[in-house]
Amino acid sequence: MAKIIYITADAETHEVEAATGSTVMENAVRNMVPGIEAECGGACACATCHVYVDEGWREKVGEASPMEEDMLDFAYDVQPNSRLSCQIRVTDELDGLVVRVPERQA
Ligand code: FES
Repeated sequence: MAKIIYITADAETHEVEAATGSTVMENAVRNMVPGIEAECGGACACATCHVYVDEGWREKVGEASPMEEDMLDFAYDVQPNSRLSCQIRVTDELDGLVVRVPERQA
C-alpha cells in the first residue's frame, strides 16, 4: 500500500490508500478525485488522466515512455513534470506521492 495525495486545481487535497500494483489513475477514479476523467480506461489513448508529479517525486516516479510522450502531446498545459496517471504504477516506494490535477483536462 502507498498513500497517494492528489491536489485538485482548486487546491483540494485527496489522500488515498492505493494498493501496490494499481495505477495512480485507477485510485483517482475509484475515489472520485475531480478532474481525472480517464476516458480510455488506462490504455494510454486519451490523455484525460494527465497529472503533474510533484518536483520532489519526479525521480522516483521516473520518465514517461515514448508511447506516453506521444499521447501527452494531446494533453493541455503540458509541463516537464507531466505524466499520464494511468501509466504510473503504485509501488511501496511511492508512499506519500503528491500529484496535481491540471486546471483543464479535456
Ligand atoms: S486513462 Fe487514457 S491515457 Fe490514461
